[in-house]
Amino acid sequence: MITFEQVKKVYESGGQKVAALNGIDLNINEGEIFGVIGFSGAGKSSLIRCVNLLERPTSGKVIVDGHDLTSLSVKEVREIKRNIGMVFQHFNLLNSKTVFENVAMPLILAKTPKEQIKERVHQLLEFVGLADKANNYPDQLSGGQKQRIGIARALATQPKILLCDEATSALDPQTTSSILQLLKKINKEYNITILIITHEMSVIREICDRVAVIEEGRIIEEGSVFNVFSAPKTKTARNFVSSIMNDSIPDSVRKIIEEHSGLQKVFRINFVGHSAGQPLLSQLAKKFDVDVNVLFGNITELQGIPFGNLIVEFQGSDKEILRALNFINQQKVSIKEVKAHAS
Ligand SMILES: Nc1ncnc2c1ncn2[C@@H]1O[C@H](COP(=O)(O)OP(=O)(O)OP(=O)(O)O)[C@@H](O)[C@H]1O
Ligand SMILES: [Mg+2]
Repeated sequence: MITFEQVKKVYESGGQKVAALNGIDLNINEGEIFGVIGFSGAGKSSLIRCVNLLERPTSGKVIVDGHDLTSLSVKEVREIKRNIGMVFQHFNLLNSKTVFENVAMPLILAKTPKEQIKERVHQLLEFVGLADKANNYPDQLSGGQKQRIGIARALATQPKILLCDEATSALDPQTTSSILQLLKKINKEYNITILIITHEMSVIREICDRVAVIEEGRIIEEGSVFNVFSAPKTKTARNFVSSIMNDSIPDSVRKIIEEHSGLQKVFRINFVGHSAGQPLLSQLAKKFDVDVNVLFGNITELQGIPFGNLIVEFQGSDKEILRALNFINQQKVSIKEVKAHAS
């Protein structure tokens, strides 16, 4: 649906050149919710703005719905852009216009007949749950309500693609969640492809199917949300994942590991799905002459699949521990030794 081929973007301001995108290759499939995550300045906004030519790539191709945007005429681009809606971090509503007028704006620009506009706007306000606010002004709404209006406006021309640039960054966690649920509903009910850029891993976890990590204008990691969360490959992805997976070892537990250092071995076990985890540990204690003690752990759900992280200590002879490890390695879990001073 959206393909980036070696996209580069260089800004020139005050005689200085800033390379924001350094050769992006990315493919976003029709009907999916795709997230791009990165730190501030990584190039996220530059990337998403190339999809509707709010920014023109310096080189490379952006192909949307089969059309190479960079080779189209102004008129052709205008046609394609009708298929792309955009939602902004700070809503970008016109404060001098009512909610109705804000949502109607893209339809007025597209010269839609008045009656049709009326019908469509009411339909959209109903869909985002704000039918009673048609005559209010944006200043009279909460942040979450403003974003619902922003979303209704983005959907006015029945786009195939919805771009969201930090759409929930200005909202509290609960409101964020309700907006993300609304985006999910849009994706399901209208089969609209959604591209979300964010610096919040919780956003990715909550609604995305696939994710790419951007750093210094490059995609450094990409995959299904489940794969990236369960086995991040790069340091940046690991940082993002640990920001919400709560998998770093607390100081109190680290102290125990240090105190027990040399007496027993400590391991981190990551398991996926119901079949692993607790039953595995009780089996270990039965099958081998090893005492198992859970020091710390948590289970999170990722795309409907439980994903666990346990810090356990094994007490027993080296030989028995080795046998136990061999057994664990045959299961669907990953196990790594934790050293007292390592992370
Ligand atoms: N119009 C511009 N002129 C000059 N430099 C720009 C312009 N827009 C962005 N940049 C620079 O390009 C780089 C990438 O910026 P971009 O806005 O894409 O990052 P971002 O990942 O969206 O960051 P944030 O999370 O802070 O929004 C930054 O170094 C930024 O300073
Ligand atoms: Mg940005």
